[in-house]
Amino acid sequence: AVFSCALSFAGAAAAADMTIGFSQIGSESGWRAAETSVSKIEAEKRGIDLKIADAQQKQENQIKAIRSFIAQGVDAIFVAPVVATGWDDVLGEAKDAEIPVVLLDRTIDTKDDSLYLTAVTSDTVHEGAVAGEWLAKEVAGKDCNVVELQGTVGSSPAINRKKGFDEAIASHSNIKLIRSQTGDFTRTKGKEVMESFIKAEGGGKNICAVYAHNDDMQIGAIQAIKEAGLKPGTDILMVSIDAVPDIFKAMADGEANATVELTPNMAGPAFDAVAAFKADGTVPPKWIQTESKLYLPDTAQAEYEARKDLGY
Ligand code: AHR
Repeated sequence: AVFSCALSFAGAAAAADMTIGFSQIGSESGWRAAETSVSKIEAEKRGIDLKIADAQQKQENQIKAIRSFIAQGVDAIFVAPVVATGWDDVLGEAKDAEIPVVLLDRTIDTKDDSLYLTAVTSDTVHEGAVAGEWLAKEVAGKDCNVVELQGTVGSSPAINRKKGFDEAIASHSNIKLIRSQTGDFTRTKGKEVMESFIKAEGGGKNICAVYAHNDDMQIGAIQAIKEAGLKPGTDILMVSIDAVPDIFKAMADGEANATVELTPNMAGPAFDAVAAFKADGTVPPKWIQTESKLYLPDTAQAEYEARKDLGY
């Protein structure tokens, strides 16, 4: 068993009696806002009392929130870790207090994987690879200069989405990554960075494609490209990750070409894993992997309609 204290948790609480603390990163993107909404919906379905602490993008706030959840004696703690490093001490405190921790949507760098019960995430390296493979197929043999908008520096999705994309294009000598900079997963910074790329690259004429680590930065980039007098989706190919309603709208309007889905429902599987663990000591797999599906413009209008009606 991952937690040596597994049996002492067993049978302690049914899902409906649980109080769970969730240290959320903030609201940097549409995807993040959706994850927060879906977590509340999933908690309500199960009768779970979910306490969400918004860390405003700061790891120190997340550490404070986790300590406060430990002091309150919650049944479990969920963390969406803003960066990958620096978690061992505080998660060690949760472990000493016999409170299981679940990582949501991002992973951590640690030598001690007993510090968390499970991680509910996608394969973020694979997401980058899906984006890179789509581009390689799309430009097949033609020279293509790519600019990359990276996510938050030091976060697992930024590190992994870069790695997956780099690996996917490595064998395609026609594709060159000419610029890469962080846009911190936000629309505003995505736009700002894209403006600087356009300026540095002949008013955008040298750029063949934008790879953004999330849709929000891509939407910022779309704006910057339009303001520069170019057509995103036509003059410059646009591929990103998340599959939020706004990127489907952009795809339906011909301004984006592809997105890789990251489900915002990380909490549902996490609640179920904790409930089973509490009920009879069932230890979940260390990684509960969510799907990464590629979406293209042909289904964009329908996906937009379906998602906007979900109400988040
Ligand atoms: O960790 C998931 C990433 O965080 C999403 O792709 C991005 O939109 C969010 O901010």
